[in-house]
Amino acid sequence: MEKEDRALLSFMNSNLSLEERVEDLFSRLTLEEKFKLSSGRLMWYTRKIKRLGIDSFAMYDGPHGVRPDYEGKNPCTYFPSAICRAATWDPELSEQFGIAIAEEVRELGAHMILAPGINIQRTPMCGRTFEYQTEDPYLNKELVVAVVKGIQSQRIAACVKHFACNNQETNRFTVSSEVSERALEEIYFPAFKAAVQDADAWSFMSCYNKLNGIYGSENYYLLRETLMNKWGFRGFVVSDWNATAFTATEGCIKAGLSLEMPTRNVYKIKKMEKALDEEPDNLKFLNDNVRRLLRVMFLVGLFDDKSLVPKGSRNTPEHQMLARKIAQNGIVLLKNENKLLPIKLSEIRNIAVLGPNKDLKTSLNGGSSQNFPPYEITALEGLKEKCKNKVKIINSPSDSDVSILFVGLNHEEYMDAEHVDKKSFKLPIDQVKLINKTVTENPNTIVVLISGSPISMVDWIEKVPAVIQAWYAGMEGGRAIADVIFGDVNPSGKLPITFPKELSDSPAHKSTKTYPGDEKVYYDEGIFVGYRHFDTKHIEPLFPFGYGLSYTQFTYENIKLNKEKLMRDGLLDVSIDLTNSGTVEGSEIVQLYISDPISSVNRPLKELKGFRKVKLEPSEKTQVKFQIKTEDLAFFDENSSEWKIEEGKFKVMIGSSSVDIHLESEFEYIDKEN
Ligand code: BGC
Repeated sequence: MEKEDRALLSFMNSNLSLEERVEDLFSRLTLEEKFKLSSGRLMWYTRKIKRLGIDSFAMYDGPHGVRPDYEGKNPCTYFPSAICRAATWDPELSEQFGIAIAEEVRELGAHMILAPGINIQRTPMCGRTFEYQTEDPYLNKELVVAVVKGIQSQRIAACVKHFACNNQETNRFTVSSEVSERALEEIYFPAFKAAVQDADAWSFMSCYNKLNGIYGSENYYLLRETLMNKWGFRGFVVSDWNATAFTATEGCIKAGLSLEMPTRNVYKIKKMEKALDEEPDNLKFLNDNVRRLLRVMFLVGLFDDKSLVPKGSRNTPEHQMLARKIAQNGIVLLKNENKLLPIKLSEIRNIAVLGPNKDLKTSLNGGSSQNFPPYEITALEGLKEKCKNKVKIINSPSDSDVSILFVGLNHEEYMDAEHVDKKSFKLPIDQVKLINKTVTENPNTIVVLISGSPISMVDWIEKVPAVIQAWYAGMEGGRAIADVIFGDVNPSGKLPITFPKELSDSPAHKSTKTYPGDEKVYYDEGIFVGYRHFDTKHIEPLFPFGYGLSYTQFTYENIKLNKEKLMRDGLLDVSIDLTNSGTVEGSEIVQLYISDPISSVNRPLKELKGFRKVKLEPSEKTQVKFQIKTEDLAFFDENSSEWKIEEGKFKVMIGSSSVDIHLESEFEYIDKEN
């Protein structure tokens, strides 16, 4: 058909409703064309159907910036890794990040970004901890909703991954995550569910692993029943790359896998024909899968005039500034004895800068989240820019006023990388020696960790007066680190994951059955993941979830609840007064936790149910307000397979971390309508 004739077909008419257009195009497809649309081509594309003018739908990695190829032919902005973005606790920054990556995808002429990755950080050993956001379902949910909304505001599809329970890289193609229904509902599902119900995510990526014995791509319970029927997902599911290697055609069709990537395997034409011959009912599932893909093709504007879709832009100064801002807000100050930080350039003559990570470029390697930015400022380059003509940079700690040591991990195998988990919970031994040696030569030593997951610090933390967790902070990372070190930025990041003292303190590390498992890995800790475990078992972490210092102090006072009793479906207002009681401007992330002290089931001692980021001038005071909804009190009851709230007293706690609780109050829940 000629282009001019195609333009007259109903599905090309952008004045028709989305569903009318989907139905019209769908009704024109032959069975063979449906098969063709179900699997990918050349790594990042769907197959074209020239007859109907269906162009390739193009999708690129990844979660920290767009990577359209592996040669760096098309450089893109490299943003801080997801754990750093999560440490900002700032949904607005996450939304801006979403907009920016979508603009870059759009500029490249593609339609979907293979991000965000939101698997729960169950163990600090997972090779992809840096690529995921947090251990906490509430924080995870608030951030994913913002990212997805940002991306899709540009008519680019977000692809939320990896659904579900891909919480380790060891044996990821074969292992079955054995997880209770309650843990799925309370810990592993909430962010995925919110991505659908609060942000209308247009695509999900199925996981490599099995969930309770069945691979993600053919898991009927996970995809068809939960994601589609229960949550109301209207988009399409794409397999992780080669995740269909061990699955069956019929299972994938039935479960709702629309698109197999990167190429044909279970969706080879012969196999699909056979699946339909054997069970004619499978056609109705296939039709649904195809409609879902078409729907998203329309949503991103594949059939619309170019003037109707956003234009897009790449590598703009605005995107680079945003990368720096996220890093500035995500860097976490872990320790600062005797106010060693910030360093005042006017008060020193020289700084010794050491450590293997001072020159590290963190964009390269790491697996599918790898990036090729037009430039990347290393930690040393960032320091040099600030110190130029003011302070000398040397390499001998004993001759220096202050020493800064850049250590940590990198994206080599067994560090923070895809495919494999970390081999060790400790820093490489050479680095531990270097820290001890440096601090002996100069007690004024600052350790900056460039790494994407918790590591053990017990061998050296007591001796070192100041520690900064700088993560993998993106292409402007070096500048952001220098901004924090010299006080141009007052740190406000808070840990989105617990840092344990010992790996054995961590809930997944009770036995080889619970990590890494073999054919199966048993999530025996249930809902007691992260701080829920440390709190309840009274294990002191090295640094708790939600923790991070500032160059100023904040005073928490005056908790007020607007009522003593909360009725079913009601709302409860909570407020506190927060004062910046220090001498410099700063931002605090105020956290609200809830606990149900008496319950028929085991519940965590506290669960995050709200947070606010507040910026205050010195001596400034403000009222910080929260609203508690009754659903914030619920747990998942496995007997009835429903969420349940029990009557009685609840505690509300306000803190600067999950351990540093400053204010507490109580209210009663009554299971009657207002
Ligand atoms: C990763 C995905 C990624 C895909 C495409 C897989 O190995 O698990 O996160 O999007 O490759 O590169």
